[in-house]
Amino acid sequence: MCQVFLHKYETRAFDLLYQARRCLLPKRIFRLRGVLRWFLQFLRSLIMNNKSLKDYYSNKSVLITGGTSGIGLALAKRLVLEGCQVAILSRQQTLLENASSEISRIATDNASSLVTIQADVTRREDLNVILDNYTARHGLPDIVINCAGVSHPGTFTSLKPEIFDWLMDVNYFGTVNVLKNLVPGMKSRRSGSIVNISSVAGFLGIYGYTAYSGSKFAVTGFSDALRSELKPYGIQVSIVFPPDTQTPQLDYEQPFKPFITKQVAGSAKLMSAEAVANEIVKNVARKKYVILPGNEGKLIYNLNNLLGRRFHDLIDLMVKNAIRKLKLG
Ligand SMILES: NC(=O)c1ccc[n+]([C@@H]2O[C@H](COP(=O)([O-])OP(=O)(O)OC[C@H]3O[C@@H](n4cnc5c(N)ncnc54)[C@H](OP(=O)(O)O)[C@@H]3O)[C@@H](O)[C@H]2O)c1
Repeated sequence: MCQVFLHKYETRAFDLLYQARRCLLPKRIFRLRGVLRWFLQFLRSLIMNNKSLKDYYSNKSVLITGGTSGIGLALAKRLVLEGCQVAILSRQQTLLENASSEISRIATDNASSLVTIQADVTRREDLNVILDNYTARHGLPDIVINCAGVSHPGTFTSLKPEIFDWLMDVNYFGTVNVLKNLVPGMKSRRSGSIVNISSVAGFLGIYGYTAYSGSKFAVTGFSDALRSELKPYGIQVSIVFPPDTQTPQLDYEQPFKPFITKQVAGSAKLMSAEAVANEIVKNVARKKYVILPGNEGKLIYNLNNLLGRRFHDLIDLMVKNAIRKLKLG
C-alpha cells in the first residue's frame, strides 16, 4: 500500500518537475529532481526493508557450514527467526547439540525445522555421502553458506607447512567440496544463493596472516569465477569480507598473533557476530555480490581499490612503526 502511494507520489512529482523545466524555470529547481528521487527511494527502502526481508527468507531452506559457532551460529539464529528451515553442519557433536538447543530456545515456531549435520568439510568422500543423505531427505537447499573456517596467525618463517595445508583444506577446499556436491543440482534447478565467507585478509595481505590470507584469497578468486559461471543459471553468488569479529576463532588466534600483527590490525574495532550476520542477511536478500560488514571493512576495501600499491606504502609505514615499538619495548 505504502509502496503504491510512494510510487504514485514519485511519478506525480517528476511530472510536475518536468513541466516546470519545460517552462524554463531556473535550473536549480530541476536539480531538485535528483535530490527528490534519492529521498523518495530512501524513504521507500526504509518502509519496505523489513517486509521484503521476511518475504525473501520465509520458508527458504539454508545450509550453513560452521553453523555451530561465531558468525555461522549468529546466521543460523537470525535465519531461523526470518522463517528459514536451517541446517547447520560442523564436526563436533557437542557443538552441534549446544547450538541446536540455543537456536531452539530463541525460535518457537521453527525449532522443529532445524537440522544438524555432523561432517568434516575436508573429508570429501564422507562429506558427499552425508550431503547426499541430507538432500535426499530435505531437498536441495535454497541458500548455501560456507562459513566453516579456521585461522592460525604467525610469521611465514615460524609457521609449519602443516598449518598452510590445514587452512587451505578447511577454508578453500572445504568450500569447494561442499559446492562440488550441491552446485550441479542447483544448476539443474536454475535457482539458489551461495554465500562464501572470506575475510578482509581475503583481499588484503595482512602481516602475520600468510597462511590465512592465502586460503582466503583463494576463496575470493574462486567466488569471482563461480559468480560469473552461475549467473546465467539464476544462481546468486555472494562473497563476504568480515573484519575482526568477536568469536571463538578470534580468541584462538590471540596467543599466536605476532606483536606486529597486533599493532597493525589490533586497533580495528571488533564487530559482534550478530552484527556481521545481520549485514549478510540484509545484503544477500538484496542480491549483493560483495558484502562488507562494518564501516572499517568498507573503508579498507575502498582505499585498497582506490590507492592500489600506494595502500601498501601506508601499511609498510604501520609495520615500520610497530617494529620500532618492538625494539624500544
Ligand atoms: N572471527 C573473525 O574475526 C573473522 C574475520 C573474518 C572472517 N572470518 C571467517 O568467518 C568464518 C566463521 O568464523 P568464526 O570466527 O565464526 O569461527 P568459529 O567461531 O571458530 O567457528 C568456526 C566454525 O567452523 C566449524 N569448522 C571448523 N573446521 C571445520 C571442518 N573441517 N569441517 C566442518 N566444520 C568446521 C567449527 O565447528 P567444528 O569445530 O565443530 O567443526 C565452527 O562451527 C570463517 O570462515 C572465518 O575465517 C572470521
